[in-house]
Order: sequence, then C-alpha cells, then structure tokens
Amino acid sequence: MSCPADAHVRPGPSTPPLHRLAFDPPGPPRPVELPDGTRAWLVSRYADVRKVLNDSRFGRAQLHTPDSPSLSGESGLVSSADLIFNQDGEDHLRLRRTMRRAFTPRAVARWRPWIATIVEQRLDELADSAHPMDLVAGFTLPLPVAVISRLMGLDTEARERLRHWSQYAFSDGSHPEEEMASALAEFAAFGAELLAERRSAPGEDLTSVLVAAADAEGGVPEGQLVDLVCGLVVGGHDSTMTMLGNSLLYLLGERPEVWPRLGADEQAAGTLAERLLHLIPLGDDRGTARYTATDTEVGGVAIPAGSVVLADCGMANRDPDVFAPRQLDDLFAPLEAPTLAFGAGAHYCLGAWLARLELQLALHRLAARFPGLRLAQPADTVEWHLGTTSRSPRRIVVTW
Ligand code: HEM
Repeated sequence: MSCPADAHVRPGPSTPPLHRLAFDPPGPPRPVELPDGTRAWLVSRYADVRKVLNDSRFGRAQLHTPDSPSLSGESGLVSSADLIFNQDGEDHLRLRRTMRRAFTPRAVARWRPWIATIVEQRLDELADSAHPMDLVAGFTLPLPVAVISRLMGLDTEARERLRHWSQYAFSDGSHPEEEMASALAEFAAFGAELLAERRSAPGEDLTSVLVAAADAEGGVPEGQLVDLVCGLVVGGHDSTMTMLGNSLLYLLGERPEVWPRLGADEQAAGTLAERLLHLIPLGDDRGTARYTATDTEVGGVAIPAGSVVLADCGMANRDPDVFAPRQLDDLFAPLEAPTLAFGAGAHYCLGAWLARLELQLALHRLAARFPGLRLAQPADTVEWHLGTTSRSPRRIVVTW
C-alpha cells in the first residue's frame, strides 16, 4: 500500500526528484503543525520511530472516527475506516491473520520463477519496440500490474480497470467529490463481486485464500474484506510502480556506473534494491500518523493523551546514530540496520517481501538485457504523477 503518510505536501513546479529531498537531522520529539492546522508530535529518531510503531498505545483507528482530527492528505481508500491499515488490536489482527501466511518470505520466494517469467516477457516486448520509448508505459507500470493480477486472480477486464481505480483509491485530492464517490463505489462493487465469485468457485489465487481464511476465522466484517482485496490490488502495484520509476530515474540519470554490476549480479541487485527502498521515499509526505489515547513518553519527552503523533520513517532512515553518512555513495553496501521503508510493528507492510523481489528481479534483468539503456530526455524535464501520498515520473523516455 502506498505509505499512507499524512502530513500532505504538494510539489511545486521545480520539484526535485525524490532521491534529492532534503531531510533535517532527527532529534527529540517536537510539536509541529500540519498544513491543515492539526497539531501533532513529530518523532524522527530511528529508536523513537520504532518505539511508536511497535507500541499498541499508538493506534490508527481513532484517527478515523467521526470526531477525530482531520488529517489533510487522506482521501480515497486510504481514509476508509474499514481498511486494514486503519484497524487496531484484535480487529486488525483478525484481518492480518487471513493474509499472514501468504506473504511470508518463504511463501514469496516460491513465486520467484513465475515473477521472473513475467519480467522476461515484458523485456521481450521492450526489445521488440521502437525507441526512444517510455519505460513507465512499457515496464514500470505493466510489470507490477501483471504480478498483482496473477496473484489475486484478476481477469483481463479487471486488469484494464486497475489504473482507473487506482487514480481514485490513491487520489491526489483533485477529483471532484461526486466522481470520486462513484469510482470508489464501482471499485468496492468489483471487490465484493470478486469475493463472491471465489467463495462459490475457489481457485489457486490469493483472493480465494483470503476468503477461505476469513470464513474459517469467522466474524470478519464483509466491508473490511472488500477493502482488503481492493487495497491489495491497488496497493500491490502502485507502490512498486512508484518505487521502480523513481529508482530508474535516479540510476539512469545519475548512477550509470552501477548498471554493469546490477546486470551481472542478481544478489548485488537485491542489496542495491534494499538501499534504494531505504533512501528514496514513495512521495513528499512526512510521517505516518498515529493517535495516543493515554499519556505516554517517547525518547524522554512526555506526549499527552489525545495527541496525533507523526512517525517520520524518512528522517529515521537517515539517523546518523544508526546509519553511516553519505548513504548513496556505495549502493551495493548492505544496510547497517533494518530499514523503516516498510514501516515496523503491527502494520509492517504486508507486501514487503513481494516488493523486494519484484524490484530485485526487475532492476537486475533490465540491466542484464539492456546494458546500453540510457535516458533520452534530460532528467530535470520529468513530469510527475501524484497520488495521495506518492509521486512518480509520468514518463521516463529511454533509448539503447
Ligand atoms: C515499494 C513498495 C512498497 C512500499 C515502500 C510499501 C510501504 C509500506 C509502508 C511504509 C507500510 C506501513 C505504513 C505505516 O505503518 O504507516 C505499508 C503497509 C502496507 N502495505 Fe506496503 N509497501 C509497498 C508495497 C506493497 C505491496 C506490493 C503490497 C501488497 C501486495 C503492500 C501491501 C500493504 C498493506 C496491506 C499494508 C497495511 C498493513 C497493515 O496495516 O497491517 N505493500 N506499506
């Protein structure tokens, strides 16, 4: 799911690429004001962010009650109270249990052969296309769409509608209210229909696994299941597309020297992918929000009951007490500590291992098949596609 952060920032005309965003050094928790006036506590040191994300006193559900603080930037599916990300405690665990086994590192590793086949199919098509051509339309978008569609068992028609629904599920806030409501209702109807189909005729796909697990578990509200399926199909491709696009813009635009090793060594590609995930955020927004209903303390600072807390994973990923400075110097160096790019604690990204595998295979095999790939447009002329909290290149024009 796109990192559902909440302190919404709109990029301006001369917006830098995400790998060049400036981060203040982390420090003790401090009060901040969000663009819509909501007061919050910004938590930024690595240890403090981990504490907030791992401590059940910092929840999500209370941010989505009728009288909860309004969080600017939350719209579309991300603001749905039924979404797994907006559940706490037992409600959250019940939903997580339905999918937990499907997404373990070992389970995901078994998907490697068919994901590699999908990558190669995309590369065959690229090799046959005229160039200069757009790498977003030809690779970074269709690859994750094909992977999540196969996993969730989507037919061709649903695959073709996926991008349309994603625009609304992860809206940048520019869609008129009525249009938004009708697109989201259509998407939810699609999710409900998919669940009904798999209940009556189960297949090998994850939707069937999810329905069976939820029915065996009992007591999972249907609205939450629908939002989980919808969240997985859009979240399962949009974040990976965003990450792949921003990574390729950086590698092709500024780091061509890593291309030969990336193509030659699959394991090194995995280490590089981890470092890019660690350092290139999905968007401009800072901090994933939590709410505390009790008095707490973080990093020696008292945080009173009723506070919104923003845990800033981007700042924490650059904490000099944990990570060496100049982290982009050696892209093949393993990280010094686990990255917070996928969050931590109860809401740790369900798709983290899948996203890692897709990035590793996509970058490695693209570099292997196209050793001469290069940008055919100046990097600073890139136009941006905006989501609720994400930003990625609309097009990456390349040649070889
Ligand atoms: C580069 C790709 C991705 C990144 C950087 C990413 C990042 C994140 C982050 C940071 C969170 C935690 C949010 C928080 O605590 O504030 C999250 C949650 C989540 N992600 Fe991802 N994600 C990615 C890909 C995926 C994929 C491929 C899937 C599904 C197949 C997915 C499904 C989810 C779900 C369901 C949650 C919510 C988990 C929960 O609330 O328990 N993500 N993701």
